[in-house]
Amino acid sequence: MDYKKVNAYIEGLYTKKKQFQKQYLQDTELEEYGQVIDDDVARMLQVLILSARPQRVLEIGTSVGYSTVMMANAIKQYGGKITTIELDEETARQARINFERQGVDELIEIIVGDARTIVAGMRQKFDFIFQDVGEKSLYVKMIDDYLALLNTGGILAAEDVLFPVFDFNDDDSYLKPMQKSLDMFNKKISECSQFESTLLPIGDGLIVAVKKY
Ligand SMILES: C[S@@+](CC[C@H](N)C(=O)[O-])C[C@H]1O[C@@H](n2cnc3c(N)ncnc32)[C@H](O)[C@@H]1O
Repeated sequence: MDYKKVNAYIEGLYTKKKQFQKQYLQDTELEEYGQVIDDDVARMLQVLILSARPQRVLEIGTSVGYSTVMMANAIKQYGGKITTIELDEETARQARINFERQGVDELIEIIVGDARTIVAGMRQKFDFIFQDVGEKSLYVKMIDDYLALLNTGGILAAEDVLFPVFDFNDDDSYLKPMQKSLDMFNKKISECSQFESTLLPIGDGLIVAVKKY
C-alpha cells in the first residue's frame, strides 16, 4: 500500500473541517507554544469520546488548548468535564483565552504546574485520559498513575508514540532522546495485562488502551 497516497486521500476528505485548526492557530496571539495534535488525531479523539461518552476527561499537556477544545466540542454534546494540565503559565493563559473564545471554558478546568506532581496528588477518577505532555519521559513513568486514575472501561490515548521509528532531521534532533522512553512506554502498554490496546499510525502515532473489566 502507498501510505502517502492513502494519507493524502483521507486528508482530502476532511479539507473543509481542517479549516478550524488553521483559524484556531491564526487567532492564537502567543507565538511560541507546544505543537498541537494533527487533525486525524483530533478526529479520533472526538470519535472515541462520542462513542464512550466519558464524564471526566484528563488531558496531560494543554499547550494552547487545541486538543482540549476539540474534545470539549464532543463532550458538550452530551455533558462532561475536562481537566487539563499545563506546565507553562503563559501558554496556560493563552489556552484560557482560547477556551473562552470557543465558548467551552465552562467545561474545562486548567491546572498550571508539573503533571507528574499534580497527577500524583489527584484523588478523583477519570473515564478518559489523553496523554500529550511535552516531557515524553513522563509517559512511561506515569503508567501506574493512569491505572490508578482510570475507572474500569476507561480509555488512555497517548500521542507521539511512533517517535521510536522516526528518522528525525537536524531541526527535530532534540526529539531523539525521547525515542527510548517512548519505546519502553509502548512495550509496557502493549504487554500490560490490565489494558487492551492498539497503536494507530495517525498523527505521530496514537496508542489507545482500555482499562479492562
Ligand atoms: C505537545 S504539547 C500539547 C499539545 C496539545 N495537547 C494540543 O494538541 O493542543 C505539550 C505541552 O506539554 C507541556 N509540558 C511539558 N512538560 C510538562 C510537564 N512536566 N507538566 C505539564 N505540562 C508539560 C508543554 O509546555 C506543552 O505545552
